[in-house]
Amino acid sequence: APSDPDLVERARAAKAKLGDKVFVLGHHYQRDEVIEFADVTGDSFKLARDAAARPDAEYIVFCGVHFMAESADILTGDDQQVILPDLAAGCSMADMATAEQVAECWDVLTEAGIAEQVVPVSYMNSSADIKAFTGKHGGTICTSSNAKRALDWAFEQGEKVLFLPDQHLGRNTAVRDMGMSLDDCVVYNPHKPNGGLTAEELRAAKMILWRGHCSVHGRFSLDSVNDVRARIPDVNVLVHPECKHEVVAAADYVGSTEYIIKALEAAPRGSKWAIGTELNLVRRLANRFAAEDKEIVFLDKTVCFCSTMNRIDLPHLVWALESLAAGKVVNRIEVDKETESFAKLALERMLALP
Ligand code: 13P
Ligand code: SF4
Repeated sequence: APSDPDLVERARAAKAKLGDKVFVLGHHYQRDEVIEFADVTGDSFKLARDAAARPDAEYIVFCGVHFMAESADILTGDDQQVILPDLAAGCSMADMATAEQVAECWDVLTEAGIAEQVVPVSYMNSSADIKAFTGKHGGTICTSSNAKRALDWAFEQGEKVLFLPDQHLGRNTAVRDMGMSLDDCVVYNPHKPNGGLTAEELRAAKMILWRGHCSVHGRFSLDSVNDVRARIPDVNVLVHPECKHEVVAAADYVGSTEYIIKALEAAPRGSKWAIGTELNLVRRLANRFAAEDKEIVFLDKTVCFCSTMNRIDLPHLVWALESLAAGKVVNRIEVDKETESFAKLALERMLALP
């Protein structure tokens, strides 16, 4: 539905009043009505890198989810304030690994006698606490666009990787890009004693995958891929690596949101694509490329929007911008100094990956 013209006008006016004081970042999964006001858009890697691009901006309004705003706070100056227009915009995957659970896991690895060989690699989609744990134990952060490079780096530092919190990205990268087998991977379940694993299983594993997943991407199935292939002859199936291994294995192409956009830009006229990622982005791409005669469909019509990404809507954005324009800082995301210093170490290792 088209945006309320009154709200559009208010967002414009507030942004104009703030001028260079405000820098608005928008993740690709955000609603169109929000993306319209973003100064830059990107996947999680690009936004982490770009967050620091405007050191003079007093306010960074992050249109995305909580862990992204935390990362922006960690990577930007102390005098810059990061704002998340709705504090309820979290990420169910990030919530699947708490600091206590991860500390307990490290104790289990220590008991099994392997902690010194293990390098933690944490997906960007994790809390600042988990990033700090990662930094403290010599590990790095990765995103879906640099997971292979992060694993290459990690296996130069140690013999095993603890990958958290997305088991699918960890498994897909290990098997698809690193030549490992499914048997090299074990899944650590934080809700079971010792993660549900024996010391022997832990010692034999190369990849210890945290039992977390994305509630959106985890819903695409092998049936979705088979159905779309039956329905649309010559369709190219392109999915995000947060999808299950069987989905990724059946797809033609796999990559982060930024990769998906580039692949469609480079696609020939008349080509057909089924995309397995968040619906806001797929719809935007379908509209954008319809003019170039590229047919783009959503991989599985029963999968919904990411509900927390969708919490950032135009009314919340207007409220945040108008508050800032009136000199009132709302919904500031601020990571404490101690957590920040270790989390920054891990994020900077990622940014320095070759
Ligand atoms: P990317 O932005 O790295 O593609 O990740 C997708 C995602 O799920 C972000 O929440
Ligand atoms: Fe989290 Fe998945 Fe939503 Fe991304 S799409 S914010 S990983 S729940």
